[in-house]
Amino acid sequence: MSGRVTKAVIPAAGLGTRFLPATKATPKEMLPVVDKPAIQYVVEEAVRAGLDDVLMVTGRNKAPLEDHFDRHYELEDKLEGDEGKRELLERIRESTDLATIHYVRQKDPRGLGHAVLCAAQHVGEEPFAVLLGDDLIDERDPLLARMIEVRQQHGGCVIALMQVPREQIELYGCAAVEPTADADVLRVTGMVEKPARGQAPSDYAMIGRYVLSPAIFDVLRDTAPGRGGEIQLTDAIQTLTDRPGDGGPVHGVVFRGRRYDTGDKLDYLRSIVQVAADRADIGPEFRDWLGKYVAKRLAEGDPIEPIQP
Ligand code: UTP
Repeated sequence: MSGRVTKAVIPAAGLGTRFLPATKATPKEMLPVVDKPAIQYVVEEAVRAGLDDVLMVTGRNKAPLEDHFDRHYELEDKLEGDEGKRELLERIRESTDLATIHYVRQKDPRGLGHAVLCAAQHVGEEPFAVLLGDDLIDERDPLLARMIEVRQQHGGCVIALMQVPREQIELYGCAAVEPTADADVLRVTGMVEKPARGQAPSDYAMIGRYVLSPAIFDVLRDTAPGRGGEIQLTDAIQTLTDRPGDGGPVHGVVFRGRRYDTGDKLDYLRSIVQVAADRADIGPEFRDWLGKYVAKRLAEGDPIEPIQP
């Protein structure tokens, strides 16, 4: 089907109000998950899926993002002169050499749909991927490559879906779906952003990965502000569900792997614990400490709830 996906767009211009005051002067995508900012994991994922042309949509705090993916000569000189710091030198160069990164400014944070529209000129007439900078997908469970495959097969747009407990669906965009011949692929017939209780068409929640047809840009230009007064990407994709051959159809890839949501405080803490526990270097010591910490709290009579998977 028409057009190879080569470009990734990463919107990182949101206000990050759930993380204030930490995000007053720093984009939330720069908050560290162990020792790398969340956004570096996302750029690495795009590159693994074969997308090394990355456009970041930034807002008023864009300097830390640009600096992170740029060279830091002073620091490199210092580390270069110290034999013991070679590995660190390699690690700080990783972010610089990862991909070709471009930037565009979203002047007002008018919503995710508006942020994606800011990418129109850079993307042109090609299908492209969108990766939200606060949603991390574990590299052991590749999702984007599968979504690109589904786009090659069906054209149109492909979104990522995850089944969530019914009582949590109101926190997400939700998709009405029909089965296809592939067990992990659903045809999307409708979408609603954060449905009111009892109004959700399914328990399939949208997560922060999209492969979109360039027809989305014209639709976004005509999309009025929706929920929360913001231009919603969900509303624009919903329009394309009715337009096979003209930006549609829309399919969903069902993701059952490991995902870390770093967008709010509790999820961010869970993400750090899980990523740290899995690391080869600090993991064993951290797991040992964590086990003892939980055991101690339990012994003291603290009702510690089990962590949700
Ligand atoms: P969120 O819905 O998490 O909003 O955005 P937010 O402003 O970042 O955070 P809160 O809710 O105030 O705490 C989802 C993604 O879309 C980007 C964000 O940077 C995040 O990656 N976004 C959102 C934009 O780039 N521009 C916007 O106008 C809104």
